[in-house]
Amino acid sequence: MRAVIIRDVCPAVDALKAGKVVAIPTETVYGLAANALSADACSRIYEAKKRPSDNPLIVHVSSIDQLAEVIEPTLYADAFGSLGASLDSTDQILVDRLKAATKRFWPGPLTLVVPRNPLIPDIVIGGSSGGNTIDTVAVRMPSHPIAREIIQECGFPLAAPSANLSGRPSPTTAEHVFEDLSDRIELIVDGGPCNLGVESTVLDLTRPAPTILRPGSITLSQLQVFLPDTCLYEHTEQHRDNAWRPSTPGLKYRHYAPSAPVKLCFSVEEADDFIKSKRGSNLIVHLGYFSLEESTDDNNVAKLALAPNPYDFAKIASNLFAVLRKADSMNPDWIVAEACPEQEEGLAVMNRLRKAASSNACLAPETVSK
Ligand code: TXA
Ligand code: MG
Repeated sequence: MRAVIIRDVCPAVDALKAGKVVAIPTETVYGLAANALSADACSRIYEAKKRPSDNPLIVHVSSIDQLAEVIEPTLYADAFGSLGASLDSTDQILVDRLKAATKRFWPGPLTLVVPRNPLIPDIVIGGSSGGNTIDTVAVRMPSHPIAREIIQECGFPLAAPSANLSGRPSPTTAEHVFEDLSDRIELIVDGGPCNLGVESTVLDLTRPAPTILRPGSITLSQLQVFLPDTCLYEHTEQHRDNAWRPSTPGLKYRHYAPSAPVKLCFSVEEADDFIKSKRGSNLIVHLGYFSLEESTDDNNVAKLALAPNPYDFAKIASNLFAVLRKADSMNPDWIVAEACPEQEEGLAVMNRLRKAASSNACLAPETVSK
């Protein structure tokens, strides 16, 4: 099999209707899509990506009507139906949250975790994990016109994780998808580079307070305007909260990682010191905030710009995965990445950079062998 990159959506729609997987552009990253109502079709996503089977998929819809097949039927009827059913107070809170979040942020890069419709096969929600079956589904309405058109033409919702091989940086161009999956899928729809460049914000509406499970380009402060009690999921909760459900199985896995080790540095000085300590290396790629996109010095250090300055969060986000992939293609001994401030969209960028660096995160640099 050798993937073909196409611009016409018709062959993609035909393939999806035939139960195949197709890579499609979205405003965040490219997704590897299949019919979300077909267990067989969705099993091909896990196979093509080599994704662990307990890591659930995001379901994509093109209209509120389509949500009826995805979320729990009573919840749908209460939030969007014409009949006003009577609800207990907890459900009413969920209904209000769902209405507020979809009204303000859809279409766009916000994924909502809500109780699922039984029409959604178990495989979409990761089957079972540690004995606990998840009873929620993650759903979003992308704003990308090509993604919307494909979903609409298909007439069914599409399950779509990022279209990278599991563990690799997410793809923000059709060429990135080709790099990872050319011998594993048939079709890639090319919509040009993704605007945003990091994946959607994942917000769990079923917890006592709406909880950001994965930061993205919709920020905590934007959400708090409409859902005032929104909070951030603390990684440590995983360990201290015995009742923790496998609501973020993705957290267990190494992510966004190039093959070269990544060292995350919190100041220019720290990056310079680290680079000096590795002077014997063949090549070090330094990712930072430079005015030139690319340059190389005499000491086998190549500089790649994440953005001209560390506060240009939108630019850093849109460059991040492409720069990580480029750095990796240079086959360096080390990738040294400079942190950006952990605020607004910088939180999403740092979440990805920390994961990319995670295999080294707990070790002092000198104890890490390549
Ligand atoms: O922007 C995006 O969200 C992209 C594009 C293609 O839409 N998709 C994407 O999917 O990033 P993926 O599979 O790479 O990430 C989905 C994340 C995973 O961390 C997964 O664990 C989490 O969403 N997730 C999925 N279903 C969930 C659920 N029911 N509860 C909690 N987390 C869930
Ligand atoms: Mg992913």
